[in-house]
Amino acid sequence: MKQRVLFVCLGNICRSPSAEAVFNGLIKKEGLQETVECDSAGTSGYHVGDQADQRMQSHAQKRGYNLTSISRQVDPDIDFDKFDWIIGMDDNNVYDLQDMAQKTNDLHKIHKMTDFCSRAGHNSVPDPYYGGSDGFELVLDILEDACEGLLNEIKG
Ligand code: 4NP
Repeated sequence: MKQRVLFVCLGNICRSPSAEAVFNGLIKKEGLQETVECDSAGTSGYHVGDQADQRMQSHAQKRGYNLTSISRQVDPDIDFDKFDWIIGMDDNNVYDLQDMAQKTNDLHKIHKMTDFCSRAGHNSVPDPYYGGSDGFELVLDILEDACEGLLNEIKG
């Protein structure tokens, strides 16, 4: 059965749209479009309807990732049924998702992105919004590592 992944951060304009683009790149590279798909959303509604942050877009573009998603908020009534993997970028995202979960089985779907990293050193994807360029590059470094681990996990 097709595996559906939802990447979640706070605003859905920096980290989770990037996770979506990096993961889609891997799915395409491995020809897994029929078996795996992904989307992204935010725990907050601060940026609903917005394109990804321009700084995040330009850092991603340099690595060949096109950020096309438009920010939306997590919809607990739909998303916990629709998605098999619901992946927060940091501990706050994970706590907020756990609060939104309505069924025990929903809780099993929630993970933290860095749990799929194979390179050590990070236990969250840090929010880059109020920082400088290094923060955006770090987000992409961590996401590239984690997306690879996640896809391997899904492939089994
Ligand atoms: P994101 O980054 O959660 O990676 O999309 C943020 C975007 C916006 C805000 C915070 C984090 N904000 O406070 O508006």
